[in-house]
Parts: sequence; C-alpha cells; structure tokens
Amino acid sequence: MKKKKRALITGITGQDGSYVAELLVRKGYEVFGLVRRSSNDPFVRLKELIRERKITILYGDMRDSGAIRRALERAEPDEIYNLAAQSDVGISFMCPEEAGEINYHGLGRLVHAVLDGRLRSKIYQASTSEMFGSAKPPQNENTPFQPVSPYGVAKLRAHEDYVVGYRKKYPDLFICSGILFNHESPRRGQHFVTRKISISLAKIKLGLQDYVELGNLNARRDWGYAGDFVEAMWLMLQREKPADYVIATGQVHTVRDFVNETAKALDMHIAWSGSGTREVGKTEAGKVIVRVNKKFFRPVEVDHLLGDSGKARRELGWKPRVSFEDLAAMMAKADLEAVASENK
Ligand code: NAP
Ligand code: GDD
Repeated sequence: MKKKKRALITGITGQDGSYVAELLVRKGYEVFGLVRRSSNDPFVRLKELIRERKITILYGDMRDSGAIRRALERAEPDEIYNLAAQSDVGISFMCPEEAGEINYHGLGRLVHAVLDGRLRSKIYQASTSEMFGSAKPPQNENTPFQPVSPYGVAKLRAHEDYVVGYRKKYPDLFICSGILFNHESPRRGQHFVTRKISISLAKIKLGLQDYVELGNLNARRDWGYAGDFVEAMWLMLQREKPADYVIATGQVHTVRDFVNETAKALDMHIAWSGSGTREVGKTEAGKVIVRVNKKFFRPVEVDHLLGDSGKARRELGWKPRVSFEDLAAMMAKADLEAVASENK
C-alpha cells in the first residue's frame, strides 16, 4: 500500500490553516497541526476533523525552538505549511517586536530545526503582498519590495533571509513561498476589514447594531477567496524545484466597494455623501450606517495592492474561481445566518 503523505501545518487554527487542513485531509494526507496554548477554545473550526482523528494537534509556539523540533520529530512531515504569524498589519504598529519574533525568527527556528534534523521536508512559507508596501501596482515577482509596516518588514526579512537566501546557501533545502494578496472567507478574523464589514452589516440588517465605523475607505486591495488560494500553496509544494509565486486575482476594489457589494447581497443599498472623515454611508431611508473614524487609520497606509499572478497561472496552472461579488455575497450570507441563529 502507498504510504500516506504527512504534513505539518503551523497556524492551523487560523483562516488559511483550517482550509489547508481540510484540503490535505481530502487528498488523503496525515495532517498534524502546531497549536499554541490558549485560554479560549482554539479549535472551533477544526472540531469535526479532530473528533474524527483526521488531524493530530501538537502543542508549540513559534517562539519555542524545542517545541518546534519535537513537533517535527513526531510529525515527520513530507510537507510543512508555515502559516503561523501575527497577521494583523494594524496591530503590528503597536507590537512590532512580536511581528519580528513570530513572523521572522519563527521561520528561522523552523528552518534550522529542519536543517539540524537533516529532514527532507518541503517547506511552504506564507509571504505576503504587504511586502510590496508602497510599490507601484500591478505587483509581481519582479517588483521591488517597499514594505511600510512592521508586519511587512518582518515578513520581508523572513522571505529574503530564509526563503531566497537559504535556498542559495543550502541547495538541498526545499523552501518556497507564496506572495499572497488578500484572501478572505467566512472564516476570516473579525478585525480584518472584509469580515468586519460583513458581520457589521449583517447585525445592522437584523437591527442589532446601528452603524459601523471604518478607517480608510479608499484603500485598494486585490481580494480573493481563501479556499482558492490554499490550493496554490499545495501546488507549489508539488513542484520538483522550489520557487516563489505571486497569488492574486488581478482585480482591484476599494474598501467602499466591499461595503457596497456586501450591502447589495443583503438587499441594502448605500448612498455615500461627504468626504474624508465626514464621509457617511446612508440607507435608502436616510439612516447613517457607515461612518469614518480616524482611530482605524494606520500610521502608514498601503494604498494600492493589485497582483499579477501570471507566473502561477503558467507554471502551476492555478487560477482563482470565486469572484469579488461572489466572495462578498458568501461572507454576507454566512454572517447573516450565523448572527440570526445566535440571536434566535
Ligand atoms: P490568521 O487567521 O491570523 O492565523 C494565524 C495563525 O497563526 C493562527 O493559527 C494563530 O494561532 C497562529 N499563531 C500566531 N502566533 C503564533 C505563535 N506565536 N505560535 C504559534 N502559532 C501562532 O492568518 P491567516 O489569514 O490564516 O494567514 C495565514 C498566513 O498567511 C499568515 O502567516 C499571514 O501572515 C499570511 N498571509 C495572509 C494573507 C491573507 O490575506 N489572509 C495574505 C498574505 C499572507 P491562534 O489561533 O492561537 O492565534
Ligand atoms: N482592519 C481594518 N479595519 N482595516 C480597515 C478598516 C478597519 O476598520 N477601515 C479601512 N481599512 C483598510 C486598511 O487600512 C487597509 O488598507 C485595508 O482596509 C485592508 O485592511 P485589512 O483587512 O486589515 O488587511 P491588510 O491588507 O492590512 O492585511 C491583510 O492582507 C495582507 C496581504 O496583503 C492581512 O491578512 C495580512 O496578514 C496579509 O499579509
């Protein structure tokens, strides 16, 4: 009988981790997840897979080299998906050391554990379009990086030192990265703008909230669906030789567009008036349901991310399936259902 492939996922409790876990279980992998201790229940998204013993949880923090080494010894992975990160860009301005510690040194600890253990595991690193920062769009693998946030800087250092640098230094090491543009889903953390919008508009629709306060409505992002993007991660690890790929939809929208599209999916239509911090979004009945609050502006903003994923399309045969409109509708409907059932 063919031996089952084995995978270790760091960050398995996050949005992408849960989709990768499901994808690999469907493909017949034996899946291990590295999870840090939490006072809350971190397993909401994974309950069924754990109950059915389809994934094995190993405890460990990306700050703890010994725990990472022990997880590798137990999992003996053919593939490692390094998704663990302090992934909130806004918070990284307040906690820059944490961004460096987890997003940069965390990868260093993992790569050294693989090298020290003489493992043949292939490593996927979650790099990000935030590394492009203020670089002119569209951005692809040849665009010079210009990060502006502590999060982006830490991810870029990890990318340059341990992905690109170690690939040259250690020719036997298989390490690749996906430079992923924003990807969302009903499982997105509630502090990211798309999910904040979908959950807030669902509550407003149900009369449970009056309005939502947002920051920069003009920020432009290339938003895709997380379920599509994790397939690209897997495809990268199936290659003979490691390489880095931009993963993006090639479509750009503003935060305001995401509000409009979500509202449309909920049969609410928004009319905008005013400008800057005085801009508001009103319902047809004239009720203000979107306001701008300076509190949600970043010290330095990334204005415009738009990815060119031509290389991934050509070499991996990858393309996104879910459109911007369908993504907003999927999130709006999921939150409407969840909020309604919680408040029954
Ligand atoms: P997420 O939902 O915030 O998940 C982050 C995961 O990292 C969680 O499982 C979290 O565990 C874990 N983690 C954080 N600190 C840790 C530590 N010290 N030790 C061990 N685990 C730790 O992020 P995501 O959206 O799934 O993103 C996955 C990866 O892709 C991240 O590296 C992110 O930076 C990168 N990325 C994301 C996007 C995107 O648009 N989603 C785009 C480009 C790159 P807890 O549950 O305990 O917090
Ligand atoms: N979070 C948040 N909350 N963002 C807001 C708000 C708000 O109330 N109002 C406007 N925005 C703007 C932000 O200033 C930013 O320009 C944009 O909405 C998107 O913000 P986020 O959803 O927080 O995502 P991000 O682009 O900063 O970071 C995400 O994508 C990166 C890839 O480009 C994260 O998933 C990162 O981990 C990821 O690397």
